[in-house]
Parts: sequence; C-alpha cells; structure tokens
Amino acid sequence: MVGGIYYESMKIELNKDVTLFRYEKCHDDLFEGCWPVEKGVLINGYMVEGTEKVVLIDYVEQGANFLTEMKAKGKTLQDIDILVLNHLEPDHTGGLRELFEQVPNLVVYGTKLATTMVETLYQHTNCHVVTNGETLDLGGKTLVFYSTPNIHWPETMMTYIKEDGMLFSCDAFGAFGTYSTSFDDELTQEDWALLKPETERYYANIVAPFSPFVLKGISALASLDIKTICPSHGVVWRKDPLYVVKWYQKLASYLAGPQEKEITLLYSSMYGNTLNYVKEIEKIANENNVVMHMVRIPDENDSYALEQAWRSKAIVVAAPTYERELFPSMAHTLDLLKRKAVNGRLSFYFGSSLWSGGAAAEYKKYAEAMKFEVLDAIEFRGKGKEEDKQRIISTFKQLIERL
Ligand code: FEO
Repeated sequence: MVGGIYYESMKIELNKDVTLFRYEKCHDDLFEGCWPVEKGVLINGYMVEGTEKVVLIDYVEQGANFLTEMKAKGKTLQDIDILVLNHLEPDHTGGLRELFEQVPNLVVYGTKLATTMVETLYQHTNCHVVTNGETLDLGGKTLVFYSTPNIHWPETMMTYIKEDGMLFSCDAFGAFGTYSTSFDDELTQEDWALLKPETERYYANIVAPFSPFVLKGISALASLDIKTICPSHGVVWRKDPLYVVKWYQKLASYLAGPQEKEITLLYSSMYGNTLNYVKEIEKIANENNVVMHMVRIPDENDSYALEQAWRSKAIVVAAPTYERELFPSMAHTLDLLKRKAVNGRLSFYFGSSLWSGGAAAEYKKYAEAMKFEVLDAIEFRGKGKEEDKQRIISTFKQLIERL
C-alpha cells in the first residue's frame, strides 16, 4: 500500500459542543515520507459548535475528509463558518483543495504567515489574520488564539476555548501510535507501554530541533487554566493535562541538557571486526548496570536511533571505514543527528579498517558540528591488536564514569 491512505476514521464527542474527528493513518506508510509508523499515527481535527457559529480546528490529508463524521452529527461542510488552521503542514491541510472546492467561501483563520501560505498554496483568499490573544465569539464559546511559532513551523499557533479550558495544540503534546481510546484517563497498560516510546520518538523525529520554542510556548501559556489538551496527534489529555506538558518540558530540556545518564551505542559492522569490540563494551555496560541502547545501523531505522540518542548523555559510534570514509549508513545517521540538534553529548568512536582508514576523521567532523566532547577516536586495522582493545575498554570506562 502506498502512503496517504486512511483506513479508519471516527467521531468522538469531547462534550456536547466539541467533537473530535479522529483519522488513523495506515501502519505501512511513512510519516513525513521518512519516519516509520508501524503502530500507526492519529490525525485529529475538531469541530466546535457555538450558538452562532460552527468552527473546524485543523484538517486532514488529501483523500480524507470529515464529511461522513459530520453527517453523523447532522452537519454538512456547508454548515462550517470558519476553519481555524493552527499549522499548515500537509498532514493537517493536504485535503484543503478538495474542501475549498466544496466550500469556496469558507473563512480561514490563521497567523499572518499561515494565511499567506493558504493563499500561495491553495489560491484561497478568504482569510482572516489573527493576532496574538485575539478572541472569536461563537455564541457561548469564546476562542482565543495564541501565537506559538516553531512548534512545529514558524506559522504555528494554538487555539483555546475559554469556557471549557480546552487547548488545541496541534503538533505540540502529540505522539505517534494509535490507541484503544482517545483519552488519557482510559489508556490501558498496553496503551501506556506504547505511548511512552511513541511520544519520545515523535518528539525526537519531529519536534526536537524546535525545543527552545517548545519551552517558550509552554511558558507563554502558563497562566491559562488548561483543563484539557487536544493535540492533533495522539490522545486527548483531559484527566491530567499537566502530565504531558511536564513530559514535553523534560524532552525539550534534553537539547541543552542534562540528558539521561544513558548511553546510545550506534554500531555497524561489515565482517565482524568492529562488532567484536561492540560485544566487549556491551559486557562492561551490563557489569556496571549502565543503560545502553544498542542501535545497529542500518538494520534499525534512524527514527529509533534518534529516539534513543535524544535522551542519552553519551553517544558511542562504532563503525568501520568504507572506501576511505565512514560506513555510509552511519554517516547518514550522524547527519540526521546533526540536523535534529542532538548536540553536546559525551562521545567516542572506534572502528576497523582494512586497506585504508578515514572513518575517524569523518566522525570527528560530525562530532565537532554537534559540539560533542570527544574522548577518543580509535581506528584499528582488521581485527585490531590487544592495545586497541585496551584503549577501547579504557575509553568506555572513562565514559561510564562521566555519566
Ligand atoms: Fe502534524 Fe508539523 O504536522
């Protein structure tokens, strides 16, 4: 199956005036065309009904629409007065062209940049630019708009219903994964076991480089009485909204540190020479009860390497030289870590070479770009000698002491 296909959608009432339209993106698609979502990903849009106006908050990708679910609520697309777009990434807007064809006069609310993008991308000009703190009275429901740039793109904002204390946060406070319920208070143990890694992987893959803006956004909204957080991915937090806020604060704090006292070992091996020393340090980590996430590259998708690297204080890179340079898949992984701002970690490198070295020099360039503190970069020939083994072990022990 090729991406962009939805196989499940449903409507869930959050209260008598607010409805969640939940779409589940298929499991064998890649999110953003690059991140595996074996457990699916939810795309949530919301309808808010006042006595005077009906509003949709965020939309969906091409091929999906709210029509069936709205019919079940006794509404048609023509009943919608305003579409609020918190964020323009196509997982929330890909279906707009179809929507605008059906409702050409639909009024779009968004930030200045968001409305400019709507005009440029969809040639839809019936837009209203909202200012930070602006309110919109729907009749018994007051929407308030807050500019929260760069969570996840520069045009992003969040929408709040004053009377209900509901915050529509779009990408912020979201997660990969699909769950047996849409509410935090109904999550089963199995749901929680998935939600933890899928929130952290989503954060590391999508939000991580924007962490300073996450912290800024959270602090800007601190005075709001938030009773429910309604993100556009993952579950609605109605029992304990602060739980996910604090969780996101923690994840954002990994950018500047401190990170968890854990090691991520990224490793590749062509003929087992580098792997021999990977096994040596794995033994030492186990003997010292150190948490070490072992990610074999390219066997595991970089998405998971990022998830572990983002939380870890130390990153060990073990990979051979390949045609005078770093093993290509490892170079790709380090490039991704650089793009996603996995900066300031404690690190060292080791790897085998046969007819030429070169990997250590390339590792050092990435390490410098990410401002890693490099304890050593050890290149050895073939299986290596006893002195190479001792150097790797001693560097690894130093790294453990520094955690
Ligand atoms: Fe869910 Fe940045 O889009």
